Order: sequence, then C-alpha cells, then structure tokens
Amino acid sequence: MASTILQLSKLISDATAVITDSCAGAGTAVPELDAPFDPAQEAWRQRPGVQLAVDQAISAAHQLIATLQPAPLSVLRMGGSYHITATRVAFESNVATIIKELGGNGVHVDAIAVKAKVDPKKLVRVLRFLASQHVFREIEPDVFANNRISSCFDIGKPFSELVSNPVTKYEGTSGITALFGHMMDEMSKSGAYAWEALSDPKTAFSEEPEDAPLSRAFGTHITFWDWMEEPEQVNRLARFGVAMRAWQNTLPADAMLHGFNWLSLTENDLIVDVAGGIGNAVLPIARANPAVRVIIQDRPAVIDDGIKYWNEEYPEALDSGRVKLEIRDLFAAQPIKNASVFLLRRILHDWSDKYVRKILTTLREAAAPSTKLLIIDSIMHYVCADPTLSKAGVVPGWASARRPDAPPPLLPNWGTVGIGTYGSDLHMMILHNSQERTLTHLSTLLESTGWRMVRVYPDQTNLMSQVEAVPI
Ligand SMILES: C[S@@+](CC[C@H](N)C(=O)[O-])C[C@H]1O[C@@H](n2cnc3c(N)ncnc32)[C@H](O)[C@@H]1O
Repeated sequence: MASTILQLSKLISDATAVITDSCAGAGTAVPELDAPFDPAQEAWRQRPGVQLAVDQAISAAHQLIATLQPAPLSVLRMGGSYHITATRVAFESNVATIIKELGGNGVHVDAIAVKAKVDPKKLVRVLRFLASQHVFREIEPDVFANNRISSCFDIGKPFSELVSNPVTKYEGTSGITALFGHMMDEMSKSGAYAWEALSDPKTAFSEEPEDAPLSRAFGTHITFWDWMEEPEQVNRLARFGVAMRAWQNTLPADAMLHGFNWLSLTENDLIVDVAGGIGNAVLPIARANPAVRVIIQDRPAVIDDGIKYWNEEYPEALDSGRVKLEIRDLFAAQPIKNASVFLLRRILHDWSDKYVRKILTTLREAAAPSTKLLIIDSIMHYVCADPTLSKAGVVPGWASARRPDAPPPLLPNWGTVGIGTYGSDLHMMILHNSQERTLTHLSTLLESTGWRMVRVYPDQTNLMSQVEAVPI
C-alpha cells in the first residue's frame, strides 16, 4: 500500500490528467491564474467528468498540505487573522478597481494609494501578503497587477461611483462582492466574539437570537433583523439586500423549478411563501405556472421593497391579484388555512430549534390535511460516512442528498470541497444563534411539530435541496 502522501499525489495527478485531456479534446484550457477572471473562460468546468476531477484535486491538495506542513505551523497559520485583515483592506480601498482603471498591467503602489487615500507604506505590505497567496501579483518591486482572484474584488462600477455613494455601491451587481463585504464586516467582527458568547454562562446554552455573538461585537441585544433596520445600519442593510441575491445568481434562473412539481398546481392552489423576502423564490414559479396563486409574507420594510420588485419584474401578476404581498410576523398565528404549499426558503436556518418548533407549529395549526410544507435550506452532512442512509427506503431522495463518498484517503465528505455548508452553519451561529441542519435533525423537528418528511429533492449545489413534508 502506497504511503498516504503518494496516494494523495496520485489522486491529484489522475485528476489533473482528466482535466487536461478533457480540455484538450475541446480545444480549450484551464485559464492561467495570472489573467483576470472571465466567466466566458469557465466553460471547461462543464465538460463531462471535469467537476469531479476538480473536486478530487482540490480535496487531495488540501489534505496533502495538512499532512506535510508542520502541525505547529498549521496551528499558527489558523490563529492569525492576517487573511481577513489584508483582504478587507484591499477590498474596501477598491485596489482592484484602481488597478484596472489605471492600467491593468501593473500600477505602482504609490499611485494606488493616492487614489485609495491610504498610506502606501501600509498598503504595500497588505498587497504583498495577498500576492504571496495568489491574490494580486507583484510584477516588479512595489508594482501590482490583478490576477484571477483579485479581479473578483472589483465591484464592477467606476471608482468615482463606488466612493461617492456607499448606499447604492452594490446596486445592480450580482451580489458576490456585497456578500464578500458583509462577510468581512459584520460577520467577521461578530465571529471574533464567538468564544465569549459560547463560554459566558449567561449565553452559552441560549437559543435566543439576541444572545448571538453579533450582539457582543456591536453592543446590542436585539435580533440581526432588528439591528439591520436601525438607521445607522443603512449601508449595511443595502449591502445585505444585494448580498442575499448572490447565491441565487450563481444558480440557473429556473433552479426553483427542479424538485417539487410546481407546474402541477392549478388556479385552485395557493402557495404561501412564509418570510418570503421580496418574493424572488416564487417569481420563477409564478412565471412558469400562470395559474397558481401566491401570497408572500414578510416584515413591513421588506414587503414595501417586494411590491417595488414585483412591479418591476412582473406587474401583471400583482395587478390581477394572483400574487399578493402581505405583512406577517413569522411567529404570529398563520391566518391562511387553505394553503396548498407553505414554502420556507432559507428561513429555518435563521432560527434555533426552539424557534423552528414555533414556526413549524404555527404552520401545522393552519395546515389543511392536503397542505404540503416545502423547506429549502442547505443540508448538513457528517464528515464521516453517513450512517442514516438506511432512511433512504423510507424517505425517497434522502440517500442521494449526499454525494457519494470521496475515494480514500480523502475525507468521506470531500473535505474542503464541501466546506461552504459548514461555513454557512457557523455564519448562522454568529449572526442568529441558529444553524444549518442534517436531515436527521430536520426530520426530528418536523415530527415533534406534527409534520412528516416524505421526500427530499436533492440539489447538486446543496443550495437548493427541497424537503417536502406533510401533516401527520
Ligand atoms: C434569509 S431571508 C430569506 C428570504 C426568502 N425566503 C428567500 O429565500 O429569498 C430571511 C427572511 O426572513 C424575514 N424575517 C426575519 N424575521 C422575521 C419575522 N419575525 N417575521 C417575518 N419575516 C421575518 C426577513 O425579513 C428575510 O426576508
């Protein structure tokens, strides 16, 4: 049996051979890291077998580094917050946009610093740290250019516009940079207080959203949602609104239509999108199924935005009364008793179990015998092999919600490749004192509130898996 490092390096070389052969067959190539990111150059990822090979190479490369790097050094590197420090300075000072506007082939740090209004002696150190991690290039001493990763720091608007109005800075963008900004600001600052929140007996076992690390970081004791609506958070609220579209923008426009058979619903059916935000989950459903009726419920300020959104996107649906937006608190009694479907997309992960039980109970009390509950959240998976796959026979789709285990010696869950869900889980803990959940966990919550999980519609991205439940 080859040593582990030889097995890992073989997994890497096998995977890179698959990638290069596949690309060569199509007359394309993996773009160089030195060039700015270009979505048109990403088609190679769609070639048969390539995504699996990419995952194998990345997972194995990370495991190889973890194996070869001296463990005390790994620990120290985990401890430093240098990455976030350098990344945030470079991002907030718009360095990528400045380089692009001053001449993409390389700009002296002094020229960058004048525009960014920061000390060049400090900025150069930040950029050098990042360039050593393949973010920006230092092509001559003190001269920096963008590369594939740093070019994604560019919000995509002229520098003058970015600095003139922080509220509208992200408007009209895909949301990726807005999410990036949100993560490095309120999320990271709050995360720095996670240990204080988890170790203080007053908050350690709390399920209250006000006891999340966010409250310690910003000296509040209110929920994330209430905090965001305070007048001083106007820039953050605007950014968060755009950020929430980021993950959706990475998916095909009709992603919602894969799973539950939304097209089978008729004019006698009613979808209630509970805490539906501006209603962008149900918009593709309402477009694809011109008969079904829809009610979107959320907080007052969000409903106002939602009405604007539908007036821009699909005014006929509002005008005919087929789609309605209504103010409703998530925890108040559900007034609609004849819903065909209650939809909860990216809602339960915002709340601890105590509150999820309340949400599910409220909906159960309002459900008719034929009502279906559709839950969309990321599904958490164990790192080890999944012992619950025997449920597969009972709940169709349960087993395929988890991708097949990675080849040994990789971690069964593919390690770093699938880390997004675990990151999102911590994100929820930090901001809301809440979490992502495994299917077992969700199933238990459903059963304790009078619902039974009947089907899982898996999604390869793990962002849009739909879980269907019915009243017991
Ligand atoms: C992560 S967003 C998801 C929105 C929507 N379901 C979607 O998938 O686009 C969470 C939503 O919960 C709403 N929300 C939070 N607390 C609420 C409450 N107490 N009552 C009603 N809505 C609430 C927020 O305003 C926000 O629109």
